[in-house]
Amino acid sequence: MPQHFLSGTFIRMSAEIAPAASRKGSDASITVDPDSSSRAPQVNPTRLWERLVQLGEVGAYNDERTKLRGVRRLALTDDEVRGRNLVMGWMREQGLEVSVDPIGNVYARREGTDQSLAPVMMGSHIDSVGTAGRFDGCLGVLGGLEILATLDDHKIATKRPMVVAFFTDEEGVRFGTDMLGSATAVGRLPLADALNLRDRDGVSVKDELDRHNQSGDAAWLYKQPPYAYLECHIEQGPVLLTENYPLGVVTGVQGISWWRIKLGGAAAHAGCTPMASRKDAGLALSLMRTRLHQLTAETPGLLCNFGLLSTTPGLTNVVPDTASGTIDLRHPKEDVLREAELRAQKIIEETLVETGCELLDLTQTARTAPVEFHADVVNAVEREITALQIPTRRLVSGAGHDAQELASIIPSGMVFVRGQNDGVSHSPREYSTQEDCANGVQVMCRVVCGLAGI
Ligand code: GLV
Ligand code: MN
Ligand code: MN
Repeated sequence: MPQHFLSGTFIRMSAEIAPAASRKGSDASITVDPDSSSRAPQVNPTRLWERLVQLGEVGAYNDERTKLRGVRRLALTDDEVRGRNLVMGWMREQGLEVSVDPIGNVYARREGTDQSLAPVMMGSHIDSVGTAGRFDGCLGVLGGLEILATLDDHKIATKRPMVVAFFTDEEGVRFGTDMLGSATAVGRLPLADALNLRDRDGVSVKDELDRHNQSGDAAWLYKQPPYAYLECHIEQGPVLLTENYPLGVVTGVQGISWWRIKLGGAAAHAGCTPMASRKDAGLALSLMRTRLHQLTAETPGLLCNFGLLSTTPGLTNVVPDTASGTIDLRHPKEDVLREAELRAQKIIEETLVETGCELLDLTQTARTAPVEFHADVVNAVEREITALQIPTRRLVSGAGHDAQELASIIPSGMVFVRGQNDGVSHSPREYSTQEDCANGVQVMCRVVCGLAGI
């Protein structure tokens, strides 16, 4: 395992993830035919909505905090596989040819009139975080299927084949690495490393793919690249709602750096051990969190989240002997994110010295550089939103998306749909209106028809 020397402390870097790989997006030339876009048929908002609701019931739970119904469909759990089966059933009902690759990504293909041409791909994910709504990822997948169903309704043949994909563990919350399936399909993550990733109970991706019979032999995307990729997704932030834009043109995605950390202290009696002689691992982790929060205040645009904070033995009268956490750092500029990572490591080091604790683990579990989408796809998305007379603006995505992985091998882009409830996501409060969802999918329909030719 590669190691990183940090003033006397060896920091373990993840063996699976190449640190800070800066990737240039594909600049292949493509044609988006405006006449084909303008002839695109009208998608069916009711059918799209009904499927979103139906899929949203798979893994649904009653959320204590919000009193709302949320979705919990972590990758390759029983619930997520029920979701996979539901969506694959819809794909087959639509007469699409379904295939699965070795990491469990699912592809549904509708033939074109010229089968020798590379297909136009749409997609996203159907796995979710533990406190999700119905839209994150599902809108892109079900929107793609809606477009293919609409083409069938109108008996429209496209010149290029079309494929709708959903990718394994986009959220990365179960196995620790976001965009796992799409990153493997485009060749960024080696398959063996991806299969070996384990959840908190030690269950591996391979164990779960085998248990659920969810891997196949479809070709990797980097070996048989599609022509272009489009993804429609909810914004997951407040910009479009606040500024009154129903849809957004996504120009790229910010950089993301994820870490897993574990600190060692010393268990001691909480009533008898002087404060000055404690080695409190919980305190050390809390201080790191506060100091990184302070760093975000000093660095415009820097975001930081400690999503997991836990201590052992977790007892009222015992000083914690270990503390574990996860760190999520993000910034749209690579040099700023790099600098923040270095500052974070310094904060960790100084806090360890101050608290007398030791570092048991610091592993980078995911790292993606900022990504810029293909100018022709970005321009086509903007043109088609404008053609529908919907007000729009350009923006950079705060969330990671499968589109950023596809962007490294083929021209790619995204349409954002405005969220309600402050635009919040990764929460049962996540919500977008039927009209906004249908408009986002209609824009995707126009762009993919322009790419595929009708
Ligand atoms: C995915 O939702 C992410 O950006 O964490
Ligand atoms: Mn998503
Ligand atoms: Mn998400």
